[in-house]
Amino acid sequence: MGTYAVTGFASGMGAASAAVLAEAGHTVIGVDLRDAQIIADLGTPEGRSTAVEQILQASEGTLDGIAAIAGVGPDLRDPAAVMSINYFGPVALLEGLRPALARSEAGRAVVIGSNSATTVPFIDQTLVDLALEGEEESARRHAVKAQEAAPAEVRAFAPSISAYATSKFVLARWVRRTAVVPEWGREGVLLNAIAPGAVLTPLMIGSTGTAPDPDSFSTPMPLGEFGRPEEIAFWVHQFLRPEARFTTGSVLYVDGGTDAAMRPGDFPTAMTF
Ligand code: NAI
Repeated sequence: MGTYAVTGFASGMGAASAAVLAEAGHTVIGVDLRDAQIIADLGTPEGRSTAVEQILQASEGTLDGIAAIAGVGPDLRDPAAVMSINYFGPVALLEGLRPALARSEAGRAVVIGSNSATTVPFIDQTLVDLALEGEEESARRHAVKAQEAAPAEVRAFAPSISAYATSKFVLARWVRRTAVVPEWGREGVLLNAIAPGAVLTPLMIGSTGTAPDPDSFSTPMPLGEFGRPEEIAFWVHQFLRPEARFTTGSVLYVDGGTDAAMRPGDFPTAMTF
């Protein structure tokens, strides 16, 4: 049986993923702001160092997998924090724990992105570049400015929409770039992303506590229903299995068909010379 770290352990998809792993007999090291074995704020450099240190301690230096699930939504009124939590958090954690994953016979990492990366038209290219360069302070400052691209009526209910969609966009790009470098690929550590669509968790339902109607939702829901945390946890588990070989750098949409409905002709994209 393996040892797996799960961030976002206390709620939603993280809690569901931890339950699936525990059910399969694995040891789960939970990380969250509350109700977890390791309490750490992944939105800060100090919190990330604490998390890495304590995961290494709890796993005795060898990890079979990480599910980096902790994150926030576009309704947070702090675009800078959204970038720090959703992008710099998982990246620092995965980079810090890569050596521990490499010590496993079958190290696996999976991160939770979002289909907002490709279905929300407010991706800020400067923010993408700053994130990929690892410039957290500049990215945090720019994230606030990036919001101006979104119309006021969108910002009214999603005050961090641009930072949110951009954080998930650049996370997917980071996964594709990173998974194929020798330190990951040749060490046998597989790194993939899941891009969920609308999933019924506290993050999505918010303070109202009631689910909206899928047929009048802001994005198409071809299956006529929202996702449930267990449906994401299923794929998290598959990516973390030792048997999940020969797939790395992939981004799997688990979104009830939303991305396919909105952009049917945008994927695959033909290679150009
Ligand atoms: P949730 O709110 O139920 O769970 C998120 C967990 O992350 C919470 O336990 C929270 O305490 C933890 N967390 C938040 N900020 C943190 C920080 N700074 N440090 C440590 N832990 C922190 O939300 P849900 O829906 O399960 O979200 C999981 C992931 O899925 C997030 O990355 C979110 O952005 C992403 N996502 C969610 C979608 C949805 O419709 N629910 C759609 C697409 C992506």
